[in-house]
Amino acid sequence: MSAGTLDGRRIAVAGAGGGLGPTVVRALAEAGAWIAAADRTDAHLDVVRDVAGDARAADLVTAEGAAEWASALGEVDGLVHLVGGWRGGNAIEDTPTEDLEFLESLLWRSVVHTTRAFAPLLKAAGERGRFALVSSSVAARPVAGNGAYAATKAAAEAWTLTFGAELAETGGTANVVVVQAIVTPQMRDENPDKAYKTFTDVDEIAEALVFLNSDAARKMNGQRLSLHPAAR
Ligand SMILES: NC(=O)c1ccc[n+]([C@@H]2O[C@H](COP(=O)([O-])OP(=O)(O)OC[C@H]3O[C@@H](n4cnc5c(N)ncnc54)[C@H](OP(=O)(O)O)[C@@H]3O)[C@@H](O)[C@H]2O)c1
Repeated sequence: MSAGTLDGRRIAVAGAGGGLGPTVVRALAEAGAWIAAADRTDAHLDVVRDVAGDARAADLVTAEGAAEWASALGEVDGLVHLVGGWRGGNAIEDTPTEDLEFLESLLWRSVVHTTRAFAPLLKAAGERGRFALVSSSVAARPVAGNGAYAATKAAAEAWTLTFGAELAETGGTANVVVVQAIVTPQMRDENPDKAYKTFTDVDEIAEALVFLNSDAARKMNGQRLSLHPAAR
């Protein structure tokens, strides 16, 4: 998408300082958006401070943290949810309760709390109101040993599609970008011989998120946009 596509938009990025966040923040800003970035600590945000209009620490797995962030920003057109993390590798019967609680908090409650806090702002934005979640292919196609991760991502997807149905009343949208795994330039540099066949590059995900926030995507609502190779 070209420069100017998102001129005048105010977009909040949750989990902006992680693996994917900096590339997304830069792509949205290059397309013209003003960016509000949030992550767990101020230090996480150093990588986006030069390009974000607002960068602040917020604990987004709590209702209070999400609400404080939203109320500090005033008008917001788009919310991009990138808060992530992983626990897994155990069969159902061996899945630690701690892992369940960690993933429920990180991947489910952070989506619930941020969308609840931003819903009035995104509804007030009318046709510009956009929410996007980055999810995993295992939510729809679970694999052994990844039950807690798959289930919490599936819950977050269902919540997002519900939000899309509600935003439709004011002309807004909510969609899910689905990947199997993410590859960063740093990962490619560290492992130049690896093909990363089933991985999706951060630039490709960022481009999709620019599109989902643009006028061109105003009729795309409640969709799962798969950016990973089809399962054979
Ligand atoms: N990486 C992949 O291969 C992959 C695959 C499928 C889907 N996804 C999804 O894609 C999205 C982006 O992935 P990613 O690799 O960029 O995620 P990530 O780096 O694991 O997480 C993004 C950021 O969220 C932060 N965060 C954690 N807890 C938080 C809290 N309570 N409040 C605010 N921020 C918090 C993380 O900090 P810490 O790192 O310090 O915890 C990190 O800076 C995530 O939703 C992820 O689930 C990723």
